[in-house]
Amino acid sequence: MITVVDLVKEYRSKRRTVRALDGVSLTVPAGRIHGIIGHSGAGKSTLVRCLAMLEKPTSGSIVIQDKDMTTATAINLRRARRRIGLVFQHGNLFDSRTVVHNVAYPLEIAGVPRAERVARARELLALVGLADAADIYPSQLSGGMQQRVGIARALAVDPDVLLFDEPTSALDPRTTGEILELITSLRRPDLAVIVITHEMHVVKEICDSVSLLEHGRIVESGPLTDVVSTLDGRLSQMLLGIPPHENDLEGTLVDVLSRGSQANQPLIAATSRLIGAELAIVGGSVEHLAGTTFSHLRIAVPRGVDARLVVEKFKEQGADAALTSELGVDDA
Ligand SMILES: Nc1ncnc2c1ncn2[C@@H]1O[C@H](COP(=O)(O)OP(=O)(O)O)[C@@H](O)[C@H]1O
Ligand SMILES: [Mg+2]
Repeated sequence: MITVVDLVKEYRSKRRTVRALDGVSLTVPAGRIHGIIGHSGAGKSTLVRCLAMLEKPTSGSIVIQDKDMTTATAINLRRARRRIGLVFQHGNLFDSRTVVHNVAYPLEIAGVPRAERVARARELLALVGLADAADIYPSQLSGGMQQRVGIARALAVDPDVLLFDEPTSALDPRTTGEILELITSLRRPDLAVIVITHEMHVVKEICDSVSLLEHGRIVESGPLTDVVSTLDGRLSQMLLGIPPHENDLEGTLVDVLSRGSQANQPLIAATSRLIGAELAIVGGSVEHLAGTTFSHLRIAVPRGVDARLVVEKFKEQGADAALTSELGVDDA
């Protein structure tokens, strides 16, 4: 388990101070995969560097299994760093070392005897599907394979937390799918996984929970199935892919969100009957998130029918609903 409390990171120069992290708090229990999503400039890379203890936060604390990493002395810092395995965006492998010696490197630093560390490295390579590549050099591997080696290396010291920095943003779609599958397969009851990304599909495919980082702050956070339970959250709009509001000639637009078995009920027909007017579906999508089905529909309410009454009727049937014009969906 990792707990981050009120983390602040300021970059100071003579001219100005940039507050890259402005009080980030977060808990990721062992056994979970947590996504942190944000646009460019949100503070993602700064958060990665602070969590990996490559950079000292200005204030706040990072606690892993009851140990406060931010108060570690210089001597203990190396040991503290071993609790977090970091997987870089571009693998960051040593070109002059064979694959197996790349994976064994953290164990070498930790003073593990050669035979033992090489044996462990070979086990880890088998785990990431690269048993046959142990004795070649990184330059002979594809980007996806290099990423696998990076994952094996991060696991070498048996960390409590595995931290991914944009793990798939340099990969093609097919390799991305394979790496996401591998990350999912690493789920263990004693390992907390954090994936930092700007790609919503990564969150959809592998995360149990997610935080939205904006201007150095976490503005929304929670299990996937909770953050998409209402229409008006930023994360729910991003995860469900709700398009921006367009002026519509057909009538007033209403968005409807239903989940689970409810998503299959003939909600629109039933509501049409209740209000005595035909509701037309003008858009929609179905998402499977963390094992639950979410269905989003955009409905045109004919002129002369009270759209707010339609919203109420949907809500009475257990769905969430809102006037599209009042949702404030981001165009981004
Ligand atoms: N070493 C640095 N010195 C000064 N400002 C920095 C430094 N690193 C990042 N920043 C600033 O901190 C903010 C967050 O940056 P960053 O963590 O790189 O965001 P992201 O990875 O989400 O794009 C930005 O405004 C960026 O300009
Ligand atoms: Mg970045």
